Amino acid sequence: MSSSQKARQSPVDDLARWLDDRLRLAEGGRKYLHKAFPAHWSFLLGEIALFSLIVLFATGVFLALFYVPDHRLVVYDGPYVPLQGQEISAAYESTLRLSFEVRAGLLMRQIHHWAALVFVAAIVVHMLRVFFTGAFRRPRELNWVIGLALLLLAIVAGFTGYSLPDDLLSGTGLRIGYSVLLSVPFVGPLLGFIGLGGEYPGTDTLGRLYLMHVLIIPAGLVGLVTAHLVILMRQKHTQKPGGRARQHNVVGEPLFPNQVMTSLSLFAFTVAVLALLGGLFEINPLWLYGPYEPFEVFAPMQPDWYMGWLEGLMRLWPAWEWTMFGVTIPAIFLPGVVVPGVLFGLAFAWPWIDRRWIARDEREHHLLVRPRDNPLRTGIGVAGITFVALITLAGSNDVIASDLGMGLQTLTWWLRVLTVVLPPLAGWVAYRIAASLGTGGAEDADPASPGGDDEGDAAAPESLETGSDSPAGEGAARS
Ligand code: HEM
Repeated sequence: MSSSQKARQSPVDDLARWLDDRLRLAEGGRKYLHKAFPAHWSFLLGEIALFSLIVLFATGVFLALFYVPDHRLVVYDGPYVPLQGQEISAAYESTLRLSFEVRAGLLMRQIHHWAALVFVAAIVVHMLRVFFTGAFRRPRELNWVIGLALLLLAIVAGFTGYSLPDDLLSGTGLRIGYSVLLSVPFVGPLLGFIGLGGEYPGTDTLGRLYLMHVLIIPAGLVGLVTAHLVILMRQKHTQKPGGRARQHNVVGEPLFPNQVMTSLSLFAFTVAVLALLGGLFEINPLWLYGPYEPFEVFAPMQPDWYMGWLEGLMRLWPAWEWTMFGVTIPAIFLPGVVVPGVLFGLAFAWPWIDRRWIARDEREHHLLVRPRDNPLRTGIGVAGITFVALITLAGSNDVIASDLGMGLQTLTWWLRVLTVVLPPLAGWVAYRIAASLGTGGAEDADPASPGGDDEGDAAAPESLETGSDSPAGEGAARS
C-alpha cells in the first residue's frame, strides 16, 4: 500500500483491517454477503414471525420491569375507581399499575399482546406455505420438525403469558389448563406440580408461569430459531420452478444489499403495524374482567385465537368418563391431551408420511411445487385446515349461540356434525380442483433431478446465476 493511501486511511479502515487479519471476515463476508436468496413474498412469512418475536422480547423486557409474579393479596388504591378498596393479588395490581400509571405501560402491554397474536399467526401461515409448496421435503425434514416445536413453544408462551395478570378471564383458562394436566392418568398431579406449582389456585402458580414465560420458553425459542436459520443457511432456501431455477442452483437476490434491505424494511413495517395495533385497538382490557376468584366464572369466555382449537375440542367432546385399572379417566383427557397429541404427532411425522404414502418420493427437492401438482397432499392439507378452523370456531360456541339466538346445545351438536362431515368434504373438493388444474406428476418435472440419490444431487452444480443485474449479485451452487 502506497504511503499516500496509508495517509488517507481512516481509523475505521484500520479497525476493519485489524479484525480481518485476525478473523478473516472479508473471506466469510464475500461468501455470505453474496449468497443468493430466492425472492418471493411468501418467503417473507418466516421473517414476519421472527420480527414479531423480536418485538415480543423488547416489549416483554419493559413489562418485566413492572410486573410482579405474586399471589399475595393487597388492597387496590390505584386510579381505576371500580376496583378501589378491593383485595386483589399483587400480580393483578401490578398489571393494573402498568395499564393506568406507568408511562407507555398500556401501549407496551397492548403491543406485546398483539405481537403474540401476530407471531403465532405468522408461524401458522409460514407453516402452511411450507406444507402446500412441499418445502418440508428432503433435506428439510429437520427444519419442519424444529418449526413445529417452535409453534408449540409459541402457543405455550402465549398461554403462560396471558395467564400472568391473574384476572378472572386468564384464571378461568388456567383452571382448565390445570384440569387438563391433572387428567393425565397416574402422572397428572406430578404434571400439575411441575406446570403450575401444585394445586390451582395456589401460591406458586404465578412464579412457575413467570419462570417459564420469561426464561425457559424464550431460551427455547432463541435456541430453536437459531437452529432453524442455521439449517436454512446451510441448506439454502428452496425456490419456485421456472426460468433458470434448477435443483442444483439458487437464482435470487444477493443477501447484501438486496435481501438485507428487504428484511430491514419488513422489520420496520412489522414494528409499525404492531405499534399501530397496540396504540389504536384495545386488547385484553383485564380491568373489566376483575381479579381471579375461584368461585366466579366469566361468560362468554374466549381464550386467545391460538388456544381456541383446544378449547373447542373440549367443548365439542361428549362427557365420556371411564375407569381403567381403578383410575377414573376424566372426560377432558381425550380432547385435552390425546387428540392434540395425535394431531401434533401426525404433523411432526408429516415429511415421512408424505414421502412414504403421498408423494412416494425419496429424492431431494430444492424446487417448490404448486398445490395443484400434488392433489392428494393439497386435499389432506385443506381437510386439516377445515378441521382446525371448525374446532377453533367451537371454542366460541357460547358467543356464536348468543349472537345467533340459538340454544348452546343445539349449536354444539351442529358443530359436532360439521366437524365430522366438512373436513373430508372440503378435502375431496380441493383434491378434485387440484387434480383438474394440475399437470399430473409435475412434482419431479425438473430434468436435472437425477432420480433420487443424494450423491447425484449434491455433487453436480449446474450453474451460478442471479435474478438481479447488479454486478455484485452472484447466485450459488447448492454445495
Ligand atoms: C418462531 C417460528 C418460526 C420462525 C421465526 C421461522 C423463520 C423462518 C425463516 C426466516 C425462513 C426463511 C424464509 C421463509 O421461507 O419464510 C424459514 C424457512 C423455513 N421454515 Fe420456518 N420459521 C418458524 C416456524 C416454522 C414452522 C412452524 C415450520 C413448519 C412446521 C417451519 C418450517 C420451515 C422450513 C421447512 C423452511 C425452509 C423453507 C424453504 O427453504 O423454502 N418454520 N423459517
